[in-house]
Amino acid sequence: MVQFNLPDNSKLVKGDEHSLPDNIKNKKKISIYRWSPEDDKNPRMDSYEVDLDNCGPMVLDAIMKIKNEIDPTLTFRRSCREGICGSCAMNIDGTNTLACTKPIEDVKKEIKIYPLPHMPVIKDLVTNLKTLYKQLASIKPWLNITKKSDTDENLQSREERAKLDGLYECILCACCSTSCPSYWWNSDKYLGPAVLLQSYRWLQDSRDESRKERLEELDDAFKVYRCHTIMNCTQTCPKGLNPAEAISGIKRMIASR
Ligand code: SF4
Ligand code: SF4
Ligand code: FES
Repeated sequence: MVQFNLPDNSKLVKGDEHSLPDNIKNKKKISIYRWSPEDDKNPRMDSYEVDLDNCGPMVLDAIMKIKNEIDPTLTFRRSCREGICGSCAMNIDGTNTLACTKPIEDVKKEIKIYPLPHMPVIKDLVTNLKTLYKQLASIKPWLNITKKSDTDENLQSREERAKLDGLYECILCACCSTSCPSYWWNSDKYLGPAVLLQSYRWLQDSRDESRKERLEELDDAFKVYRCHTIMNCTQTCPKGLNPAEAISGIKRMIASR
């Protein structure tokens, strides 16, 4: 279920409809959440018909076509358009995912698009991820090593390097954290699956020298233990990663420290 942080005293209403002429046969209806802080209006769902014969195959292609050809006020984030930057994360057809890697043809009927659930909305599909970035900074997402000289190498065996597979690929899109009910209700204290998967990535790095300190920092009633293994995070990750398993790994490391 999609949850929103709507502006106070507001409810989602039906918005404008932008239809195509009847002679265009291969078209898709796309409804998009719209809200602007610049007026006092309720958030609304605007709908747009898109000519699929003149559109790229992904949902992001359709959104960009709408912005370029129908409604330049539509606001969203995007950059790489190939699943690498994480900025086009949004809720499409009830699932948090990347618009640039989500094929239009995967959604059989009308496509409904909302911002990432339960995050403050800045405008339309753009959410405020400040808390998540602050939490990311708090886990010190970098290698802590003492360099002895300029020619010092930090070698890893193949087995040690392999432990980072399934972790280093995270693009920090926030699809997982914003699908997690525990994070919705406790995001001020619970770090959430995206940041915890990052944390596990550094805990698993054989070259890092601050494993003990990292685990001490995480051993707190809220930071890790608000995860109740509901698994929404793993189901939604557009990169096929398993944040729930990473969180279990952190719990095991804390327990066996
Ligand atoms: S684990 Fe997956 S869903 Fe979560 S931030 Fe990383 S890439 Fe996105
Ligand atoms: S497994 Fe944990 S982190 Fe993932 S959705 Fe469930 S409670 Fe959230
Ligand atoms: S635009 Fe970069 S991940 Fe979609």
